[in-house]
Amino acid sequence: MLAAATRSLSQDRQIGDTGFLWNLISPTQFAEIDFGPDLNVVVKFEGSNPGGSIKLKTALALVANCEAAGRLRPGGHVIESSSGNLGIALAMVCANRGYKFTCVVDPNAAKDSLELIRALGGNLVVVSERDANGGYLGSRIAYIETALARDPALVWTNQYANPANPEIHARTTANEILMTYPEVDYLVVGAGTTGTLMGCLSRFHEVGHPAKIIAVDVQGSVTFGGPSGTRRISGLGTSQPSGSLKDRASAIAVTHAREAGYRTIATASTGNAAAALACLAANAGLHAVVYVPETTPAEKLLSIRAYGAEVVTVAGSYDMAFAACLHAAQERGWYLRSTAINPLMTEGKKTAAYEICEQLAWRAPETVFVGVGDGSIIGGLHKGFSDLLALGWIGSMPRIFGVQVAGSNFLYRAWGQKIPFDQVERRSASSIADSLQAELPQDRFKALDAVTRTAGAYVEVSDDQVLDAMRLMARCGYLVEPAAAAACAGAIRAREQDLLGPRSEAVIVSTGNGLKDISSLRRMIAMPYAPK
Ligand SMILES: Cc1ncc(COP(=O)(O)O)c(C=O)c1O
Repeated sequence: MLAAATRSLSQDRQIGDTGFLWNLISPTQFAEIDFGPDLNVVVKFEGSNPGGSIKLKTALALVANCEAAGRLRPGGHVIESSSGNLGIALAMVCANRGYKFTCVVDPNAAKDSLELIRALGGNLVVVSERDANGGYLGSRIAYIETALARDPALVWTNQYANPANPEIHARTTANEILMTYPEVDYLVVGAGTTGTLMGCLSRFHEVGHPAKIIAVDVQGSVTFGGPSGTRRISGLGTSQPSGSLKDRASAIAVTHAREAGYRTIATASTGNAAAALACLAANAGLHAVVYVPETTPAEKLLSIRAYGAEVVTVAGSYDMAFAACLHAAQERGWYLRSTAINPLMTEGKKTAAYEICEQLAWRAPETVFVGVGDGSIIGGLHKGFSDLLALGWIGSMPRIFGVQVAGSNFLYRAWGQKIPFDQVERRSASSIADSLQAELPQDRFKALDAVTRTAGAYVEVSDDQVLDAMRLMARCGYLVEPAAAAACAGAIRAREQDLLGPRSEAVIVSTGNGLKDISSLRRMIAMPYAPK
């Protein structure tokens, strides 16, 4: 019965030539949730897609559909109505493919979403007149219709009527569910444009699957004939894993702690490792205790608290949080995830190197750029590439470039001055790239080795260069946090310093999601913009 549904997923996932952003969507993020012995509940996570929602699939499909129909040509101008998530996703896709984008929203749209759309280069039109239902959807659509009449070159992707919306969910979302859980009895889907719902419904019907499909709407919505009213929920979604490369290490720590019978797991962190641990520990039923410095961005702290972790905010630097956590874990007998103490963390992070080579059809890139704080990610990448080289799966080692920020540059100085670590001056760390702050990097030995053994280099960038790189990436459709943008800024700097050949290939490891630090996005948007 499922034969029709299980056509090659990779074939089903092809849409137009929108490959790069498409590849960032993970097809199989399921997790089981404990609802008691009689109910087996599985959640399909879509919130960790770039843009923070399932809508990136829809946006890619809508744009591919308009391109295939010849309506959208290079340099074209897309217009769409959205309450937030689709607007963010379309802004990413349009930035990535060089289209102008106008998003028509209303006063209910979340301010954060609007800022993100703007950060990605989209224009905003806010309609303020209510429609006949007392809402704004009719007014948004009326605005688009008038705009199209005025300017026929505008292209309305039309998420409400474009068949590409449900189709993409039939081919991807529904297929992934059917392939992973073929015996599912009930499928519960939130209803907005109903693209996800109708796509799932049509594919389940197509293959004759008996599951009951339950649509979830919100109070105040008129989709299923209810009375209109104020809607307080815009979009349904969640975000797990937690949106940074640190998830890879935390997943291993949590598994190991559970196997070894621990009930409490702790880490020191500048924020992301703590969020990753809080997230994965919650999922595994472990109690997480995290030690973070007072400079940790509010969004990271919020997510850590939301996952239910115990937060110890240390009045001082990350290095002080690290020492406090080590002491508490030793005293209390907790499992410790902290970088450089737990050797398994490198094993988690090295998987990023495997994926890079796999995605390049089993060859190593010429160069790799990554932001460096404690030095654990760069050490992990080096280990991953070394494993593959030893196995003969790749034929060469990439040159690894560590990127440090001027306000936290211990390794840059140690590497440049070629002196032992104990002779390098210790300076307090401060930068917009909060995740890269480390006075004395805990994994410094591995971090220095990664660069020296691969003929790479350490590169230093300023906070302004980080902000410039954040914007450059946003205008290409990638919303990243400052520590991740630092890697991109480092690649630009390395080219300016003639550290790369004229046509070098560089992989920039984008380690953290831009939604994790809204105040840095605000600073980025406020900077004057001169496109290069
Ligand atoms: C987003 C992000 N990028 C880069 C880094 C730097 O990694 P490491 O401290 O292992 O050098 C971190 C560390 O927290 C991070 O969260």
